[in-house]
Amino acid sequence: MDTEFRDMMASFPTGVSVVTARDGSAQPRGMTCSSLCSLSVAPPTLLTCLRSGSPTLGAVISSGAFAVNLLHGEADWVAALFASGAPDRFERVAWRPSCRTRSPALIEAAHAVAECTVERTHPSGDHVIVVGAVRSVERFRHGSALLYGFRRYSELSPGVPAAVGERSVAAERGR
Ligand SMILES: Cc1cc2nc3c(=O)[nH]c(=O)nc-3n(C[C@H](O)[C@H](O)[C@H](O)COP(=O)(O)O)c2cc1C
Repeated sequence: MDTEFRDMMASFPTGVSVVTARDGSAQPRGMTCSSLCSLSVAPPTLLTCLRSGSPTLGAVISSGAFAVNLLHGEADWVAALFASGAPDRFERVAWRPSCRTRSPALIEAAHAVAECTVERTHPSGDHVIVVGAVRSVERFRHGSALLYGFRRYSELSPGVPAAVGERSVAAERGR
């Protein structure tokens, strides 16, 4: 069952983020994270699911704040780095404290950063659901977004958004 579930989720491509926070000694912590979901628009709220026992989760809970760094299409190596367990991850990327919560903002790897405060947490299985109230959003650059699916990275560029959907609905109606 585990394998079937993993294979099914591998066939569900997502964007890729790095969730970051400061631990009790103000050290930066961060992990690659694809379990990111918009939860509410008013007020702006998102959720993410972090592995129980992760130092990043510990820092999120102890600081009560975190940043979601949405990776751009050329930052696949940053996604791999922040999934690797490497202790020196923050020495290998450019970052600075974010304006409001001081959570690390990956200024060269991210195309956008959302600063959040922890609204609530909910343990479930081997992960913890973290609900974050979005306090600010900063855009660093426009361009492509990094995707992960079928166990590989790819790049998605902004295209023609709604018209594609409208055209296909019209095409369906015309059948
Ligand atoms: C594309 C990708 C997405 C991932 N998404 C998540 C996720 O949503 N939640 C999670 O707990 N781990 C996720 N991981 C695994 C963590 O990044 C990995 O366990 C990391 O080493 C954890 O960092 P830590 O040592 O600071 O806890 C993902 C890994 C990859 C490659």
